[in-house]
Amino acid sequence: MSKNNVFSTERELQVPPIILPDFLEPNSRLKMDGLKFLYHLPNESVPVAFLDPQYRGVLDKMNYGNEGKSREKRRNSLMQMNEEIIGQLIQGINNVLISSGHLFLWIDKFHLCQGFKNWFDGTQLEVVDLIVWDKGRIGMGYRTRRVSEYCVVLQKQPKRAKGVWKIHNIPDVWHEQKETKDHPHQKPLNLQAELIAAVTNEGDYVIDPAAGSFSVMTAAHLQNRNFIGCDLEG
Ligand SMILES: C[S@@+](CC[C@H](N)C(=O)[O-])C[C@H]1O[C@@H](n2cnc3c(N)ncnc32)[C@H](O)[C@@H]1O
Repeated sequence: MSKNNVFSTERELQVPPIILPDFLEPNSRLKMDGLKFLYHLPNESVPVAFLDPQYRGVLDKMNYGNEGKSREKRRNSLMQMNEEIIGQLIQGINNVLISSGHLFLWIDKFHLCQGFKNWFDGTQLEVVDLIVWDKGRIGMGYRTRRVSEYCVVLQKQPKRAKGVWKIHNIPDVWHEQKETKDHPHQKPLNLQAELIAAVTNEGDYVIDPAAGSFSVMTAAHLQNRNFIGCDLEG
């Protein structure tokens, strides 16, 4: 491929060797608070993070009168995050990402339409892309019924694709059904694996401070990458 081509298949960014405290064991399901986890990671040390917030917003918007009951029971039993905690998690991710590193942020359609910019105000992160996940299974909704979720792609400054993003055939609408029902919010394994491959090299570290079923760890291992991450529930 010519040097002038905007599409690169190699990552030119250097990732420094990462030195971790003993209690942050890589490639394991750490049970801890995501904010504490991020605080103990060295600054400017990882090329990619995933965040899938457990926000109250969705439950408030989709209050069908059955919150905490029936099908919503498992969802409600998970620790909810308020906007302030989400902002702090994103600030922590901003600190640990290397320059031009990526954050893949899962989001629902209400935040997408009404705005979530305040979550990353004051950081060096900017929105650079959006992927729609077609879950292939029809869900709830007062008017239309949900089949999709959204993955916002943010990049730490300086914003650039060339020499950073290596895979150029990932569609921005992704069809994938969940393989298991391990966790009510489990995200698509193959999409996450493709995104990891696009912005990291073998052996790099991928992080997730609120990992749920640890689908990001499984995706990282599929690509021979390392993972460090935690969940309050372990
Ligand atoms: C939406 S789920 C993540 C699902 C995950 N992406 C997957 O594919 O399985 C959000 C998770 O955040 C966890 N959580 C909530 N507050 C947290 C915190 N302060 N620190 C770490 N994890 C937290 C919840 O226990 C829940 O498992």
